[in-house]
Amino acid sequence: MSSKSFDVIVIGAGPGGYIAAIRAAQLGFATACIDEWTNAAGGPAPGGTCTNVGCIPSKALLQSSEHFEHAGHHFADHGIGLKDLSIDVAKMLARKDTVVKQNNDGILYLFKKNKVSFFHGRGSFVKAVDGGYEIAVAGAANETLVGRQIVVATGSSARALPGVAFDEERILSNDGALRIPKLPKTLGLIGSGVIGLEMGSVWRRLGAQVTVLEALPTFLGAVDEQIAKEAHKAFTKQGLKIELGVKVGDVKSGKNGVKVAYTDAKGGAQTLEVERLIVSIGRAPNTAGLNAEGVGLKLDERGAIVVDDDCRTNLPGVWAVGDVVRGPMLAHKAEEEGAAVAERIAGQHPHVDFNTVPWVIYTSPEIAWVGQTEQQLKAAGRAYKAGTFPFMANGRARALGDTTGMVKILADASTDEVLGVHIVGPMASELIAEAVLAMEFRASAEDIARTCHAHPSLSEATKEAALAVDRRTLNF
Ligand code: FAD
Ligand code: NAI
Repeated sequence: MSSKSFDVIVIGAGPGGYIAAIRAAQLGFATACIDEWTNAAGGPAPGGTCTNVGCIPSKALLQSSEHFEHAGHHFADHGIGLKDLSIDVAKMLARKDTVVKQNNDGILYLFKKNKVSFFHGRGSFVKAVDGGYEIAVAGAANETLVGRQIVVATGSSARALPGVAFDEERILSNDGALRIPKLPKTLGLIGSGVIGLEMGSVWRRLGAQVTVLEALPTFLGAVDEQIAKEAHKAFTKQGLKIELGVKVGDVKSGKNGVKVAYTDAKGGAQTLEVERLIVSIGRAPNTAGLNAEGVGLKLDERGAIVVDDDCRTNLPGVWAVGDVVRGPMLAHKAEEEGAAVAERIAGQHPHVDFNTVPWVIYTSPEIAWVGQTEQQLKAAGRAYKAGTFPFMANGRARALGDTTGMVKILADASTDEVLGVHIVGPMASELIAEAVLAMEFRASAEDIARTCHAHPSLSEATKEAALAVDRRTLNF
């Protein structure tokens, strides 16, 4: 084998790609990973959307803004007095950048530790060769690699409104939304999905007046209705203005702001004028520049790579994982697929169950769920029992001073198997892990109810919701 030949070449070092590369190397394959993301100094910044302009920086800003909100609105309840509270946006952004850099460096360290050869540049298919594919790397150094197995993990990018390009000054994608240099007085958001709600929360907490325009008539349509209603109530109370059922028209960007013409749910013509506008209407798979057509790699009508349940593409020896294929656009889903593909290449038989992939929206209250919603069970005609428990009745939540929301468990009416768990409230992102594990083991609600949970803890709300499935809560 020449020095530029590999058993496995991974294109993209987001959560799907870097995990696939590490797992492949652990399994003994000579592995290369190619990624083009470049930091401000011109160096590599592996980690993809997740690390650079997604999960990690958004959570850093959510944390900073949550501290600010607590200091401004909740510390007084604890007897803590503060004078002259202020926010230094530049410092907050610099902290976020440091957190991102720590994660970039962490991945480079993991590549070294696991002996993954990293190439900084754009990877594309050249041609099929005997026993594999030739992959070109266009970057600081132009090279050609040969790989026996190829894993495409090129991720996704923000979708723009038709005819309204992102300038990242006034009209922002998730990238610009994470580096607004100065607190805007007014901020508009198109799309009340996950990014809209998380980014809207950051800037609202810091003092911006935030308006969200959503095309659908229902709020968070994919979320269990009862949970979505509770979240909508909480967000509205916090001052987030959410308009549903709108039709966005002309968007004009000027020196001082952006004007959005739209039709409201009643058909009335409206204009929203804001300093900055974040467009968060979903994401599109990154397949341009891969030369997919050159090698006959099949894409669907959205430009996503077509794969089977095991992430195999139509080309032998070519796999694809993460945001660039079907399924939820989530970092942990990409990671599971990445690890599973490496194991399949090694002849193992891993399984990724989409039904137990958790979702989390990191607002406050947080929203997290796994499995089926009540609407889905009804639509499927499945007989179920529901149990809910409010955080209002949980001692730890009262001590924390955050009693918004509830845990809701849905279980099969006859077998008691847990079919879905839905949480809105404090630390829902952490609480959902127990529900995922329970569903992975096909636990019954009674299994959760009979499990000893530490007191006082928020997780007791999960135990109580499981007891509620059988109408026997102890603390409510
Ligand atoms: P990506 O992370 O997009 O990585 C793909 C990589 O491939 C990139 O580095 C890209 O530069 C590189 N690349 C593309 N084409 C080429 C090429 N031809 N050659 C070389 N390199 C290439 N998900 C969660 O689970 N939790 C969250 O909290 C969360 N928060 C988010 C917040 C925001 C604002 C956004 C935008 C997304 C968030 N997501 C979150 C979604 C998550 O970021 C994605 O699902 C995840 O990053 C997908 O991983 P991936 O590996 O498929 O692709
Ligand atoms: P999204 O799919 O979550 O939400 C987009 C919203 O925009 C939808 O409600 C949709 O109805 C609305 N919309 C679409 N076109 C519109 C239009 N023309 N006018 C008004 N509204 C319109 O997409 P989003 O927020 O861009 O996020 C993309 C993906 O990134 C998410 O689906 C998720 O997979 C991932 N993500 C995950 C996070 C997490 O796990 N915490 C955080 C942020 C993003």
